[in-house]
Amino acid sequence: MALLITLEGPDGCGKSTQIGFLKEYFEGQGKKVLLAREPGGTSISEKIREILLDNDNSEMDYRAELFLYAAARAQLVGEVIKPALEAGTVVIMDRFVDSSAVYQGMARGLGVDTVYKVNEIGLDSVKIDLTILLDLPAEEGLKRKKSQHEMDRMEKESLDFHKKVAEGYRELAARNPERIYKVDATKSVEEIRELILDRVKELMK
Ligand code: TMP
Repeated sequence: MALLITLEGPDGCGKSTQIGFLKEYFEGQGKKVLLAREPGGTSISEKIREILLDNDNSEMDYRAELFLYAAARAQLVGEVIKPALEAGTVVIMDRFVDSSAVYQGMARGLGVDTVYKVNEIGLDSVKIDLTILLDLPAEEGLKRKKSQHEMDRMEKESLDFHKKVAEGYRELAARNPERIYKVDATKSVEEIRELILDRVKELMK
C-alpha cells in the first residue's frame, strides 16, 4: 500500500531522528520506503534550495520565495514522489506543502489559501495520508540549532518570525485534526517515537 507521510515542525524540532525510526518501522514491515527532504530531493530542487537558503539573498521577495519553494516541490513531485507512490512505496517527507502554508502563508503573511493555490499545479493531485507535527516552542527549537554564523537565511529570521511559525503549525493542526497529528516535541525521543508509531499503526488498520 502506497502512503505519503510528512513530518513538519519548527526548525530544530527533531524531525530527522523520527524519520529514521519510521523508516526502520516500515522496512521491518517489508515495505519499500523512500525518504526525501524539502526543499531538495532532486538535483534541480537542491539547486533551488541553495538559492532559498543562501544568506546573500537577504533581498528575496516573499512572493519569489513562495514560488521557489513551490518550484522545488513541483520537480520533486514529478520526478520522485509520484512515481514512487505509483510503485506502491511508502514516501516519508521531511517537510512538504504545509511548511509553505506556515512559513510563507502565516509567518510571511501571504495567506494560507494563496499558498495552497500556488502549489496546486505542482502537487499534481498528490494527497498526504498523514502529517506528524513535532510541536516545539520557537525558543527551544532555535536553542537546538547551530551557532549564529552557521545559520541559513530562514533560520536567521527573528524570534518573532519563528514564534509565528510555531503558532502557525498549531493553528494548522487544529484546522486539520484528521490529517495532522500533533506531538509534544519536548517529550523524550523514545516517547515521541512510541506516539508516532501508535498513530501510524492506526492509519495502517
Ligand atoms: P530544513 O532546515 O528543515 O531543511 O528547511 C529549510 C528551511 O526552509 C526551514 O527554515 C523551513 C523553510 N521552508 C519554508 O519556509 N517553506 C517551505 O515550503 C519549506 C519546505 C521549507
